[in-house]
Parts: sequence; structure tokens; C-alpha cells
Amino acid sequence: MKEHSLDTLCVQAGWKPATGESRIPGICQSTTFFYGDSRAMADCFDLKSDGYFYSRLANPTVTAFEGKVAALDGGAAAIGCASGMSAVTLAALTLAGSGDNILCSQAVYGGTFNLFGTTLPKLGIECRFFDPDDGAENIEKLIDGKTKFIIAETIANPSIIVLDFAKISGIAKKHGLVLMVDNTLATPILCRPKEFGADIIIYSTSKYMEGHAAALGGMIVDAGTFNFKGNPRYPAFNVPDESYHGLVYADLAVSFGTKCRAQLIRDTGAIMAPMNAYISFLGCDTLALRMERHCKNAAKIAAFLENHPKVAWVKYPSLKSNKYHETAMKYLPAGQGGMMSFGIDGDIEKCRAFMESLKLITQETHVADVRSCVLHPASTTHRQLSEHELEMAGVPANLVRLSVGIEDADDLIADLDNALKNI
Ligand SMILES: Cc1ncc(COP(=O)(O)O)c(C=O)c1O
Repeated sequence: MKEHSLDTLCVQAGWKPATGESRIPGICQSTTFFYGDSRAMADCFDLKSDGYFYSRLANPTVTAFEGKVAALDGGAAAIGCASGMSAVTLAALTLAGSGDNILCSQAVYGGTFNLFGTTLPKLGIECRFFDPDDGAENIEKLIDGKTKFIIAETIANPSIIVLDFAKISGIAKKHGLVLMVDNTLATPILCRPKEFGADIIIYSTSKYMEGHAAALGGMIVDAGTFNFKGNPRYPAFNVPDESYHGLVYADLAVSFGTKCRAQLIRDTGAIMAPMNAYISFLGCDTLALRMERHCKNAAKIAAFLENHPKVAWVKYPSLKSNKYHETAMKYLPAGQGGMMSFGIDGDIEKCRAFMESLKLITQETHVADVRSCVLHPASTTHRQLSEHELEMAGVPANLVRLSVGIEDADDLIADLDNALKNI
């Protein structure tokens, strides 16, 4: 049967009620599950039969949301995590351990940069950062026999760099390496990374997936594309896991996903909460509709800002002037998301005056939900840095980050125009 369209999957995937069951998944707010027969429970533990035994490993409400996201990405399995950061952490630890190294794009979300640059090195995992705009030959020089994966973001937060999938997946394939892609700001509606060579796809579902800034969550999708069997780079997939009944993950249909759940979710307990899975499942019903509006609004606003005399520059890939326009047309043809950055023509005081004059668009550190919001890094998240340091960090003092919501575009433009007039 032909695969349903993404619009249909958003609404229908993940939950098919049996006769008399609730039409939408219930919130299964229970840590544990009843078994009258100890053998039936043992079979669940041994993964011989499907079933729930403890919500630290799996929970029916979380399963429903996992099913929806796996369907949207065309993946073999998905694992719901407590947050986007826990998803990145668990995905990394499923593949890498002490003595290993990983390749991470330097244009990633700050939390991911800290995790790979500071925290994982303390566990003996070395991170080699690369410039995603660098040539393949230079990036490849960082790979050795201990490299376990490459990670990059489809649309990088906050630099809005669009990933050149052909280049990066070409490197991963050439070296028999897993390619992990954080698809948070694109979502499967704008880009399905599996189609461009990604093996593992990660989300902070706290963003567009849930969409309303109501629930934290993360998701790891195993595309089911990577063959670990006999690959000398991944011995941990090819020897029995004594901590899990001697399972050899490479022999399973879902190798990465099973190892991630059986070892990492089990041992860290960083699974998504049932309540958050429920909220996120409902939010995701409207993902396709919302993304269409986010993109339409953002493209209109980017064009307005680009022509405004008080705006020095705008970074948004729909603009022909944007460095990543061509790449975006290849991988994000339906729209380029709701995130952009622009520079006020003036100093930090002018930026402050602009921010304070906005009436509809609020100042927040969050991004990618239905309400438009802005952040001025130089006076908030990056305020400890000097002007020179700000430039070095790629966050000039006049940079404003704008997350475009789904309000009426003309109302948003009027708010921006008014605030710009006030400076
Ligand atoms: C691209 C990206 N990945 C991961 C994260 C982390 O997600 P969370 O805040 O849900 O832990 C974020 C958060 O902003 C993000 O933008």
C-alpha cells in the first residue's frame, strides 16, 4: 500500500484504537503493569513478547507518540526521551564510550556543543568539531578507527546554516560511519533526513513537534538503515550484551533502537514522561499545518526585513541573497522553517530600544512554538562577552534572533515595523 502523506500521518499515525477504546491515547500514568503469570512477564523482559512491565523502559502513551514520529520519519523505531538534550546524550552513548571519538558540526545548538565539548570528554569521549562549510577532504582528516558517528543539524540553531546532506552523508558512507542528524528546526514536514542518508534522527520535541511550549521532550528515530553486523567499528553491537540476557544487537531487525532502550533508557531512566508524551502527541496532530504557516510567515517577514532601512542584514534561507539558499531549495523545498536572525543597523542600545518597543512579539529564550518571540543574545544569553568575543562567537552585538509563530504575518510585520521606527 502507498505510504500515506505526512499530513495524514500527523493526524492518524501512532494510535489505532481497538473497539471501545479511547479515540486518542489515554495518559497511562502508571509506573508498573500487572501480570498474573510470571512466565508472561519473563517473556517481556527477554524481549520474546511485546508488553509493558515498568514505565522507565516503555509506557503506552509514550509508545503512541514514538509511533507517530517514527511514521513521520519513515523510521524503524523511535525512543521518547525526557528532553531534546537527553535524546542527544542517549543517542551518543548508544554508540560511543571511553576511548572513542565523534565528529560534531561546530554549528549546533549550544546545549549540544557543551555536551560534546565539555561533558562527554569527562567520560573519555573526545569530540572533534568541524566546520560544516569546510571541504569533505578536511572533515575526513578528523576520522580514525575510533570514530563512532558524525552529527550535524539540518537547520542549525541559531546560525541557520542548512546542512549539505550529500557532502556529510557521503563522508559517513565512505567510512562506514553512522550519520546522526538533529532535525528539530526542520521537522519531518520540511525534511526527512533518512531520504538523504541519515541513520539516526534526533528531535527536541519541546519545539515544533509539540508546538505550544507546553511539554519538554526528545525523540531518537532509528531509520533502520545502518548495518552493524560484522562492522569492526562497532564491536559493542557484535558481541553478546551480558547486561541484557546476552543479546547481540547487530542480529536484531532494530539494532540501534533496541540497544538504546535496553541499555541507555534502562540505565539512565531518561524516558519521556507519559503526560508530556500525551501533550506532544496532540500537538503533533497539527504539525503539518503549523509548519506551513511558520514557513509562509517567516518568508514574508524575511523579505520585509531585508528591505527595511534600519536592518543591516537578514539570515533566512528563502532569501536569494542567503548563502544557503541553493542548499535549502534542495533539502527544504517546501519551506525553510520559522527561525531567522537579523542585524539592527546600530549599537546594542538601539537593539535594546527595539526589543523594548515590541508589543506582540515577546522576549523569550524558547524558540519554535506557535507564538512569535525574539532574543537579543548580546544583552541576555551572551551578555558576559565583549564586542570582540561576540563577533568571534558568530553572535554580533546587533544580532536579533526571531522565531516566527503562526499569528497573522501582517500583524507581526506591523509590530516589527513599529519597533524599528522607535529606534
Ligand atoms: C536543535 C536543538 N537540539 C536540541 C535541543 C535541546 O532540546 P531540549 O531543550 O528539549 O532539551 C534544542 C533546544 O533548543 C535545539 O534547538
